[in-house]
Amino acid sequence: MMPVRRDLQFKLAEVDLKTWNANGPLVSAYMNTLSLFFPDGERFFIHSLRHYRDQITDPELKAQVTGFIGQEAMHGREHEEYNERLAEQGMPAEALVQSIFKIIEAAKRLPEPAQLSITIALEHFTAIYGDLLLRKPELIEGSNPTMKAMWQWHALEETEHKAVAFDVYSKVVGSDLRAYLLRTSTLVVITSIFLSLIAAAMARMLIADKTTKKGPREWAKFAWFMLGPSGGLRGIALPWLDYFKPGFHPWDHDNRHFLNQIEAINAKYGVSAKKAPKLAAAA
Ligand SMILES: [Fe+2]
Ligand SMILES: [Fe+2]
Repeated sequence: MMPVRRDLQFKLAEVDLKTWNANGPLVSAYMNTLSLFFPDGERFFIHSLRHYRDQITDPELKAQVTGFIGQEAMHGREHEEYNERLAEQGMPAEALVQSIFKIIEAAKRLPEPAQLSITIALEHFTAIYGDLLLRKPELIEGSNPTMKAMWQWHALEETEHKAVAFDVYSKVVGSDLRAYLLRTSTLVVITSIFLSLIAAAMARMLIADKTTKKGPREWAKFAWFMLGPSGGLRGIALPWLDYFKPGFHPWDHDNRHFLNQIEAINAKYGVSAKKAPKLAAAA
């Protein structure tokens, strides 16, 4: 699997970000909160991989790392735009992003293998969240089409590059008992930190939003989204546990069949796809 850097741009200025998700404003707030973590989080992933790039001798893995960096850079750019629009629409995105930045800067002081183990733990999260969104399109069906395309694009590319950081970890840190204990203990610690930070950030987003309705009906829809049969937590619990299998590899769960959806999104939102008709017309 060779990740491809695609330059997609989603214009979000017209989107009402408080209510974009068809499952209600609380689900919108939840996914908006996730977006706050992406730009600096993904730059951290790039940082942790770059440190080891020169130690990778396998040309295919080296090319995959380049593709990974290209994809995460594009995700970071688009989520930065998303977060700016959140701030414009009155949400405390700027302050929250600054707090997230400080936490990530502190993580950069950890030993390099620990930083890479954080990256592969969070890449496990993005892979299983991405897979859930692709398996259960009802989680996003009927939502604003631009937002839907953006989240699907991100889910698809997270799938495409899900094993890259893991393969680097296996090469440079290893796959012995010590490497296993580092990666699994990191997942446990990171899960508790990450979920607490999301809950705290979402609470601040909701407190700041005085205009959106947040009654029992909205909370019931949010609970159904998280805990129902297609729900966010139920859908990731078992895949999360797979990480503890001693011989685990992200492609043990082969979901590459979803990737044939990427080109349709790229054709609509890709920068080169948009430029092509103009060039053809000019010629
Ligand atoms: Fe990403
Ligand atoms: Fe990723």
